[in-house]
Amino acid sequence: MRVINEIKPLRDILLQNKIDNKTIGLVPTMGALHAGHIKLIQESIEECDVTVCSIYVNPTQFNNQVDLDKYPNTFEEDIQMLSDIGCDLAFNPSHNAMYPSGNQLNFDFGHLDKVMEGEFRKGHFSGVGIIISKFFNIVQPDFAYFGQKDIQQFAVINKMVEELHMNTSLRCVPIVREENGLAMSSRNMRLSEKGKNDALVLYESLNLAKELLIKGVSISDVKNKIKHKFASSIVELEYFEVVNSDTFISMDKVTKNSPVAICIAGHIENVRLIDNILLNE
Ligand code: PAJ
Repeated sequence: MRVINEIKPLRDILLQNKIDNKTIGLVPTMGALHAGHIKLIQESIEECDVTVCSIYVNPTQFNNQVDLDKYPNTFEEDIQMLSDIGCDLAFNPSHNAMYPSGNQLNFDFGHLDKVMEGEFRKGHFSGVGIIISKFFNIVQPDFAYFGQKDIQQFAVINKMVEELHMNTSLRCVPIVREENGLAMSSRNMRLSEKGKNDALVLYESLNLAKELLIKGVSISDVKNKIKHKFASSIVELEYFEVVNSDTFISMDKVTKNSPVAICIAGHIENVRLIDNILLNE
């Protein structure tokens, strides 16, 4: 596997592959790789001739300096993992390469970036849109792989690709979980063993909500039950929402045939965690 830090050499390699009619898959990450990321890379390796994994902690998507400063960095291990599974190229650019004149851009995704993650992390999705459009312009991937773990991020990128007529097909890969059900996340590295155990309340709440909704319990009653569950938990609930997973409009009633996502965010040990499940899977 080759590790590349500059845009020009990456473009040159990819151009040659395009000339040879090879398909290119891109997996954007911020490093601190775990089995969730690896699943995305494996899907790309299976589907595409050439797989590029970017490792770049993008400052414009962090609205909280402490979160950015504390973002885990396990670069050496990441490169080892990528090369072990057969990734072709790792792209690890500097801030100067990605933002040579700082950042003057701003994306507005309408309702999609005003709720849930957008509401609690102001400017987050603008930063995601900026960095992903930069990567798509540099790599020009045929396919790009994202996780359902960040389901709202997927919807935002999908909208961007549609609106800007980008020539990349998106793939949404199901959430990879720890054995106990906790959604894998680079931020889990910052939790104590007890914290990881306490954080299970997030997934348990999603499962409980799903079970109740399937039984026909109303969304407002389900929301009350979940709030009640958190009253006795050390995890501080930030939001719990039942939304249409295309539009992210909050639902007050589950209707047949509309795609429903149950989404949750909470804080524990100064770490912010998110999770979700789909009602119809
Ligand atoms: P990061 O948090 O590193 O995640 C990279 C990709 O891995 C995202 O598409 C995310 O949804 C996916 N992922 C993370 N945990 C997962 C899990 N447990 N199961 C399946 N997929 C999982 O998301 C970002 O980085 C950034 O916002 C990025 C898209 C790279 C832009 O900077």
